[in-house]
Amino acid sequence: MRICVIPGDGIGPEVIGAAVGVLRALAPDALITEAEAGWGAFERHGVALPAATLAAARAADAILFGAVASPSHAVPGYRSPIVQLRRELDLYANIRPVSGTGLGKPVDLVIVRENTEDLYLGRERLEDDGATAIAERVITRQASARIARAAFDLARRRAADTGRSPRVTVAHKANVLRVSDGLFRETVLAAARAYPEVVVEEMLVDVAAMRLAQTPERFDVLVTTNMFGDILSDVACIHGGGLGLAASANLGDAQALFEPVHGAAPDIAGQGTANPLAAITCVAMLLEWHGLSLPAARLRAAIVGVLRDGPHTPDLGGTAKTSDVAESVLARL
Ligand code: NAI
Ligand code: MG
Repeated sequence: MRICVIPGDGIGPEVIGAAVGVLRALAPDALITEAEAGWGAFERHGVALPAATLAAARAADAILFGAVASPSHAVPGYRSPIVQLRRELDLYANIRPVSGTGLGKPVDLVIVRENTEDLYLGRERLEDDGATAIAERVITRQASARIARAAFDLARRRAADTGRSPRVTVAHKANVLRVSDGLFRETVLAAARAYPEVVVEEMLVDVAAMRLAQTPERFDVLVTTNMFGDILSDVACIHGGGLGLAASANLGDAQALFEPVHGAAPDIAGQGTANPLAAITCVAMLLEWHGLSLPAARLRAAIVGVLRDGPHTPDLGGTAKTSDVAESVLARL
């Protein structure tokens, strides 16, 4: 297994360092290469996703990505490298599982987010008057159909594992965005016909946000477009213990990229207090994806043990360092 590691910026390298230690322990034969991307890479090379990084990512079976710091103002020449990577490698399905009892309710849901189009194509412009900004939203039948299949297949597999009846919620805003979300909605509902055993429900995205906050236990698989999925997955991850624990997979047909949901966290970067468990859970997802289910299960058990008994980083109310948590996971392994 060839793995390309992209630590990125801020706490990215801190949590990825911990994750790579775990990966080496569980998959000693993995061929690990490291590549640069992000704001630091942009400052060094004038490009946020260097060609060498893209080539290394393409050559790998899987990519482990930390986080990058993307400025919120326009910087000429800077484009978010993670959005680019997802598109370049056609990693079309962003899988964001949330499980836990973060707010006291047992939650076990997965957000399946379309990963290659929507407003995140970044087709934005200013009109000549300089006072009107326009963003183009692209939704295609092809991308909507394949993300729908990813969601229904996942619901089917989860039902096989748990014995519960599979349920897919389609979150959209087709009542306002009749053409773009209308196409998404219609395509997903058409794909649903091939999965008669799956209970399908539609929900407007704003209501979905409220229900994810209030009654998260009612969800199984939620499928939605790119930006809605970005937002809803941060809402949902509260139930799993917050951003310090939320992991995600970006799946294509042949390759996959695993990354914590969180960003570069400049407010805590450099302090050695970032929670590495999101990144370490990415390793479990990577091993599962590669069919290494035994080491993955051992890792999941170790993570559960650390969550139960500590040590905990400050985001979970503790005083432990990133390295304490990483060492504790390794000790349990
Ligand atoms: P963020 O996820 O970096 O941080 C949000 C809050 O959660 C902060 O208070 C942070 O300290 C905390 N947090 C995040 N991860 C944590 C961890 N592992 N342990 C403990 N606390 C943690 O989001 P924010 O602040 O909105 O964005 C910061 C930068 O990250 C921005 O430049 C943004 O563009 C970038 N970003 C990058 C992403 C990526 O690379 N995929 C995703 C989200 C944001
Ligand atoms: Mg996000």
